[in-house]
Amino acid sequence: MEETHRGRTALVTGAARGIGRAVAEGLARRGARVAVMDIALDAAEATAAEIGGGAIAVAGDVGDWESFQAAHAAAVARIGAFDILVNNAGISPKRDGARVPAAEMDPAEWRRVVDINLSGCFYGARLVAPAMIAARRGAIVSLSSVAGKHYSSIVGVHYAATKAAIIGLTRHLAGELGPHGIRVNAIAPGRIESPMIHTVGAAVNQAALAATPLGRLGTAAECADAIAYLTSDAASFVTGVTLDVAGGLSMT
Ligand SMILES: NC(=O)c1ccc[n+]([C@@H]2O[C@H](COP(=O)([O-])OP(=O)(O)OC[C@H]3O[C@@H](n4cnc5c(N)ncnc54)[C@H](O)[C@@H]3O)[C@@H](O)[C@H]2O)c1
Repeated sequence: MEETHRGRTALVTGAARGIGRAVAEGLARRGARVAVMDIALDAAEATAAEIGGGAIAVAGDVGDWESFQAAHAAAVARIGAFDILVNNAGISPKRDGARVPAAEMDPAEWRRVVDINLSGCFYGARLVAPAMIAARRGAIVSLSSVAGKHYSSIVGVHYAATKAAIIGLTRHLAGELGPHGIRVNAIAPGRIESPMIHTVGAAVNQAALAATPLGRLGTAAECADAIAYLTSDAASFVTGVTLDVAGGLSMT
């Protein structure tokens, strides 16, 4: 594989498993030194060891400013300031294998999803931006979702609202940080094979698959390839974009 990311440092949140793990692995295979950040430290350590390339693990909760700040500082102390940030950590809480209806949602659960899915992306950008501005380069990619663009009967209103907000956050950050040489993009995955999608019944995933023109679920590796592109020099004039990685499930 071409070493498109040689000499770069990358912070990937929620990287112990699922899409984040594949992203961390993909960037490491392309030559980046990766910090695998997750609330699950043991799993993050195992992932970092398996990925290799000098990858490190750091524990932190993206939804908690103090925790994210401490994790970022610990990572910078070990591998230096970041050229790349991937805001991947996210949750999609369900009840008995289905979404929680808005009319029954506990406001505390709403706040938890907003903290992790949306504020976490802002906190990440807030933490890496000063060094990127000083270096006059950087790439940030956040994980939105097709559920942020279209109505989805699978997810709760908290999840859909945060994934829509990430698209706006991405555009705004791209505008503000562009003059400093920093690109900010997002991807909007469709239904991707990962631990997250098994919180609902198999029939739900089968229905999503049936609605996908390419006729299958996506893979975490396919999301990782899109993020490798967006964080590489091949995308040097691409910013403010939310790229669908959805097999045609969402066509806008
Ligand atoms: N799987 C899909 O079909 C799909 C579709 C669209 C978007 N996404 C988005 O992709 C991202 C990754 O999803 P996934 O399917 O790999 O999920 P996953 O549940 O399989 O993995 C999420 C990882 O994030 C970590 N994490 C959770 N909360 C955290 C926190 N507060 N701080 C730090 N780490 C935390 C978990 O420990 C886990 O390792 C999410 O943002 C999700 O919304 C997924």
